[in-house]
Amino acid sequence: MDFEPFQYMRYAKRIEYADGIYMAGSGMTPPRPEMLGFKPEDYDLDSLCNSYGDPRNMDWLCEHYRCGGENVMLAAGSSGANFLAFAAVLGAGDRVIVETPGYPQFFSLAALTGARAVPLPRRAENRFLPDPDELAGLLDDHTRMLVLTNLHNPSMTAMPPDHLRALVQVCAQRGVLVLCDEVYLDHLVPGDGDESAWGMGDNVIVTSSLTKVYGLSGLRFGWAIAPRKVTERMLDLADIVDPQLVPLAQNLAIRALASLPRLRPLARRLHESHWPIVREWLNSRPDIEYARPAGGLTVWMRVRGMEETGNLATVLRNDFGTLVVPGEYFQSPGWLRVGYRIEPTALREGLSRLGRAIDEFKAHSHVS
Ligand SMILES: Cc1ncc(COP(=O)(O)O)c(C=O)c1O
Repeated sequence: MDFEPFQYMRYAKRIEYADGIYMAGSGMTPPRPEMLGFKPEDYDLDSLCNSYGDPRNMDWLCEHYRCGGENVMLAAGSSGANFLAFAAVLGAGDRVIVETPGYPQFFSLAALTGARAVPLPRRAENRFLPDPDELAGLLDDHTRMLVLTNLHNPSMTAMPPDHLRALVQVCAQRGVLVLCDEVYLDHLVPGDGDESAWGMGDNVIVTSSLTKVYGLSGLRFGWAIAPRKVTERMLDLADIVDPQLVPLAQNLAIRALASLPRLRPLARRLHESHWPIVREWLNSRPDIEYARPAGGLTVWMRVRGMEETGNLATVLRNDFGTLVVPGEYFQSPGWLRVGYRIEPTALREGLSRLGRAIDEFKAHSHVS
């Protein structure tokens, strides 16, 4: 099997426990277990868990997405659900259109299936929204799927529902599926553009999890919502690679799902209190342009005149003890993804160090 290593994941894992101010993460702080009301019986390993997921979790998802049980596939996080979607849909010689800048897992998954990833640009000058006409021009008879994120990682742009609908429509006309990873979608205020792509067409697959907005990455509770013909393939695959989900995680997920209405505003509040700190700093730097995040806990920025940011991120880490993600991991040399979930004093200090590192770097490399 030929595949491209997922370099970003290796980087993210390596630095997560490194010393320094951590501004590389994109997820919410985990809630304390008592906030979720876990009960002793949740730790019962001999649960009634059905092999493809606890029926209570399946029911929750059916109600949430207004879909049937045949459309639900549980997986190990959104990552696992993305794997199942790619593996179920794609094969050697197929083409898959992938947004860029984009989450690098998608490019690795395309390579894994033998499909060719064709980039669909999300340009800063178009507010990171993909152009439906440009998309139409990329589709051909070998194209099986378009892959998007909403909110967009890395820019945290929200895709207006009508825009998303237009993209789904363009694909539907050519019999192409749309995979929309919605793991960041609940960062939006409920009812304010947070419409799921599921239901926008019968060619839509949605993936998500409790990781980014709810801080529950550790539960590995993720899902795909997909047309029946796709979930059937996913089930065939699950039988081969992951025949039983972890009952303990399923039991805890039942409590977590019941707690979502209480947890969801916490991430939004964190965004609303920390983003102004970052914005103020960004606005004090005429050499930086940025995408205004619709929500979430990261900002995507470019240092004008800087061609690449890999070395800057290394200097920032080694000499300034501050960790960010260089744009190279998102096919965007010259950009940086900077997280702001950390507490305000550390956040201000991290931004100040970033500013000093940029100034120093520019002074040495003669960037204007
Ligand atoms: C778009 C996207 N999907 C999925 C994931 C991974 O999430 P999970 O923990 O649900 O596998 C990430 C993590 O950065 C992501 O950015």
